[in-house]
Amino acid sequence: SRPIIIAPSILSADFAALGAEVRAIEEAGADWVHYDVMDGHFVPNLTIGAGVAAALRPHVRTKLDAHLMISPADPYLDDFARAGCDTITVHAEAGPHLHRSLQHIRKLGKRAGVAINPGTSPEVVDYVLDLADLILVMTVNPGFGGQAFIPETLSKIAAVRARVGKRDIDIEVDGGITPETAPLVVRAGANALVAGSYVFKGGPAAYAANIAAIREAA
Ligand code: DX5
Ligand code: ZN
Repeated sequence: SRPIIIAPSILSADFAALGAEVRAIEEAGADWVHYDVMDGHFVPNLTIGAGVAAALRPHVRTKLDAHLMISPADPYLDDFARAGCDTITVHAEAGPHLHRSLQHIRKLGKRAGVAINPGTSPEVVDYVLDLADLILVMTVNPGFGGQAFIPETLSKIAAVRARVGKRDIDIEVDGGITPETAPLVVRAGANALVAGSYVFKGGPAAYAANIAAIREAA
């Protein structure tokens, strides 16, 4: 099976010190840096865009994992690629042309991801599997950090895992990941775990222990 990836979401970081926060989570053992983009339209919150990603990129030694919670996403894909995002994930619900969006991301030379909300059925990925490098199964409704894990998503993770088969596709989960929920999502078939509030609680001195707790539980 695939190695477990821990991807701290900088949504829960100190935004006045993002460069230092990224260095701190990487020193503490993060595998990727998860970057949440929200538009106040697709989700009821606003965060940061491609400009901040570009500013942050020189501080990232691992991989910058961009999660675009924006609609439409297509007009911004070039900007996030140019900013140096390694994976660019769009929501299946964010527009009528998921297939085209993934083709576009691949053409930009980036890893292409598809995210699905808790209310979305797993079969939306069936006809884009050859264009996807990652499938993000949301385990909360997107928009905010610190929400409770939705247990009904576990059977969907397993359904996505079955659909992916032997293809080289990461299955990522995002929302409510803690040492309690990590083993459940891994058992269901996830290999990349995003965690925001759990990793960043306690400040930089606690990051290594927080990441290790999730990794050991997984
Ligand atoms: C939710 C974001 C997540 C969020 C996770 O909309 O996509 O990445 O930061 O936060 P926690 O781990 O606190 O649920
Ligand atoms: Zn996210």
